Amino acid sequence: MARDITFEEAQKRVEELRKEIDRHNYLYFVLNAPEISDQEFDALMRELIELEEKFPELITPYSPTQRVGEQPSKEFAQVQHPVPLLSLSNAFDFGDLKEWDERIKRQVKNSVDYVVELKIDGLSVALTYENGIFVMGATRGDGYTGEDITANLKTIKTLPLRLKDAIPRLVVRGEAFMPKAAFNRLNEERERNGLPLFANPRNAAAGSLRQLDPKITASRTLGLFVYEVFMVKGVELDTQWRVLDFLQKQGFPVNPYKKLCSSIEEVYSQCKEWEEKRWELDYDIDGLVVKVNSLEIQKTLGHTSKSPRWAIAYKFQSEQAVTRVKDIIIRVGRTGVLTPTAILEPVRIGGTTVSRATLHNEDIIREKDIRIGDKVVVQKAGEIIPEIVSVIKEERKGTEKVFSFPAKCPECGSRVVRFPGEAAVRCTGGLVCPAQQRESIIHFASRDAMNIEGLGPKIIEQLLEKGLVKDVADLYYLKKEDLINLERMGEKSAENLINAIQKSKSNPLSRLLFGLGVRYVGSRAAKILAESFKTMDKLIEADIDELLEINEIGEKIARSIVEFFKEEHNLKVIEKLKNAGVNMSEVSSEEVLPFKGKKFVLTGKLNSMTRNEAKEKIEFLGGEVLSSVSRKVDYLILGKDPGSKYEKAVSLGITILDEEQFLELIEKSKK
Ligand code: IVH
Repeated sequence: MARDITFEEAQKRVEELRKEIDRHNYLYFVLNAPEISDQEFDALMRELIELEEKFPELITPYSPTQRVGEQPSKEFAQVQHPVPLLSLSNAFDFGDLKEWDERIKRQVKNSVDYVVELKIDGLSVALTYENGIFVMGATRGDGYTGEDITANLKTIKTLPLRLKDAIPRLVVRGEAFMPKAAFNRLNEERERNGLPLFANPRNAAAGSLRQLDPKITASRTLGLFVYEVFMVKGVELDTQWRVLDFLQKQGFPVNPYKKLCSSIEEVYSQCKEWEEKRWELDYDIDGLVVKVNSLEIQKTLGHTSKSPRWAIAYKFQSEQAVTRVKDIIIRVGRTGVLTPTAILEPVRIGGTTVSRATLHNEDIIREKDIRIGDKVVVQKAGEIIPEIVSVIKEERKGTEKVFSFPAKCPECGSRVVRFPGEAAVRCTGGLVCPAQQRESIIHFASRDAMNIEGLGPKIIEQLLEKGLVKDVADLYYLKKEDLINLERMGEKSAENLINAIQKSKSNPLSRLLFGLGVRYVGSRAAKILAESFKTMDKLIEADIDELLEINEIGEKIARSIVEFFKEEHNLKVIEKLKNAGVNMSEVSSEEVLPFKGKKFVLTGKLNSMTRNEAKEKIEFLGGEVLSSVSRKVDYLILGKDPGSKYEKAVSLGITILDEEQFLELIEKSKK
């Protein structure tokens, strides 16, 4: 079709096509809202390429065909920035922000509005447009002189080659970055090809933009956000908010998460919010940038030689650090899994000292090729335990030792096995293995399980060593005298511990079930199971099909439960728990507990039970026991020789029950 077309017709069509292609590019890459299919887009591109081939004189540097047009260069040319690219001073907490805000207010003698933007962790670039056409892109360099990376920047699909308006001259600043997903893909590919890995997306972006061959840059997915106008002719702008709006209207990718704030408190709450939410983004941010909104006030405030006074970076605490692997040890968990852990030279990450990192399993050590003595990048992400991101292989000295996984359990010497399809290596020692005994009791007593206050790992270890307990049921047969002889245990703490153990007897079945540590049964599954079966006996009798009928219970959990209750030693433990008086049933959270929302106060001595037992009963039925009488209290339970609480309750007109009435109330509510 291009054959019979005249030059003038081609010129017109080429322009139309370029406008169309730019528009669809923007819709696809910036707005994520394509209007045409990939095939239709390719057809437009093909038509343009054909016309440009026929009439090469029509090719312009801003044509979408020229995103990867240029030949590799030998070196980057140096470019002088028209305005120095300053950096920012940092704030690390609210105090720093407040101080900065006060200084501004003192100078301006008024309050000011701020724009809060995400601080993209990438590479700062300056982009120059002449008559609306992209003519040059440069790195920041030392702030005064950068490198001309125009050809590479053109390969970024979201960078507009031509703006909406033919503005005579416009210089903007933005940040080029690599999205996390692209970074992971790139590193996986490099790993397959035996190439060194990039430590983080920022380094990968920098490495990609500093390629002398733009084809390599084009093969890497890079993103861009533009946030500043340095220089503009022919456009009046008065606030940063309007600057962002203007940039967006001209076709630049502008980060959508921006906020106009009228106080520094509001600014800080944005900072805190993003400190949590940053993990949801597909690109790294290392903080937020706070800018005075009014450009006129910005001008009055001016800048120092390094940074503007009208902006500040609120920096998140760093989540990565470099350190050395001193050793690799194996820990045996509750279910017998051998987990390798790296012992690190202590290093500060994000406000805490890290000296260990999980290595997950045998395969990860091999895949990442982590050796004892290696220098590594360690990361702490959110709440997750620190892990090793990568090894800095270039710094190996040759003395590093390859770790070999043990063939025997380091705690009990039993054989270890690795089931097909599983990454985990397990000890076959079962409850003979002291590590499994210890870990299973620690789990049983933990907060989300039986929540036995004061029963921590140190005490559990001593109880096991002295032979006072072998399994979780033995805990309920402990006496105060057994405990007093333990290290750092006095009369009072022994009594408290016994009370805490006794109190845990009235926990609902779901806690007990979770505490028993059945494989794959987490606290949520335990709750679902307990609510469906109501009692331990019914659950023990359940077969696979019955279990699978329950919503959210899949094959893996169902099988694991059936297997667990087939084991004679597990049934024995449950029997022992039952005999000790541990509750084996669940009151569904949908059923209303009879004492729910009711507040009780106990006074005087009861005949049929201790005060503690009374408290347990009330709590089991959903009530709460308070230590003093106030208007909030619903019932005062009156024993022999009551104290002043009695008079107070009378004066406040609170319902008073004697022991008999209290027992009746319990009986009635049980029904
Ligand atoms: S404004 C003169 N805004 O953070 C003010 N910078 O040291 C120029 N950055 O080098 C910076 N996101 O590369 C600004 N929304 C944002 C930013 C941002 C990332 C980078 C920029 C600068 C560094 C601060």
